[in-house]
Amino acid sequence: MTAPEQGPVPVPEPARFAPEYPIRTERLLLRPIAPADAVAMHVYKSDPDAVRYVPYPPLELADVERRIATTWSNTRFTKEGDAVSLAVEECASGALVGDVVLFWRSENDRSGEVGYIFDPRAGGRGYATEAVDALLALGFDGLGLHRIVARLDERNTSSARVAERLGFRREARFVESEWFKDEWTTLLVYALLGDEWRGRRGRR
Ligand SMILES: CC(C)(COP(=O)(O)OP(=O)(O)OC[C@H]1O[C@@H](n2cnc3c(N)ncnc32)[C@H](O)[C@@H]1OP(=O)(O)O)[C@@H](O)C(=O)NCCC(=O)NCCS
Repeated sequence: MTAPEQGPVPVPEPARFAPEYPIRTERLLLRPIAPADAVAMHVYKSDPDAVRYVPYPPLELADVERRIATTWSNTRFTKEGDAVSLAVEECASGALVGDVVLFWRSENDRSGEVGYIFDPRAGGRGYATEAVDALLALGFDGLGLHRIVARLDERNTSSARVAERLGFRREARFVESEWFKDEWTTLLVYALLGDEWRGRRGRR
């Protein structure tokens, strides 16, 4: 008798994940990006310095509105390749201070990537670190990821400090590996495992 044919390899749980919003931290609230965010978001997304190391040019208001209606409107993970972008609001004032994104890179490897951009006027208060920490909880505890990376331009030292404060390990430096915004860019790859993040959380 032949052995029964094996079915498809089970997908690690949870393979589909619709987070509950808003996500609250000590000082911030993370929630889906809304059309009403466009004007406040345009302030920093049109700033050449703020977008220097992110994968889009300074945006016009109409660009921001279009992206809010399309790419940035997704709020759940249904398949690898999905990305969820969230607005970050300051609880005390209700002001939009930035936005963060979690990419689900691979279902098989249970891997993801974070991205973040904040209004420079809200910088230097630890908001980015606090918001990305909540995003890591979403990725590790919610989506069940094993490993999350942050990829950044070597010159983006404030971003590297965010990653390092959160316990990311600098794993790679790829010299002039990307042609980005009309120049060769040296890329740093930072990574953090779910167990490492949970260990740090336990100690805090
Ligand atoms: C990257 C970016 C988010 C970092 O912003 P940031 O203000 O330095 O980061 P945080 O909000 O976490 O604030 C951390 C700073 O606040 C200080 N701080 C003050 N109060 C704090 C508090 N209560 N808790 C934690 N940190 C506090 C920290 O000491 C730290 O300063 P330091 O880096 O000089 O040591 C911001 O520069 C940015 O949006 N850049 C443009 C977009 C971009 O490049 N994104 C990354 C692409 S890879």
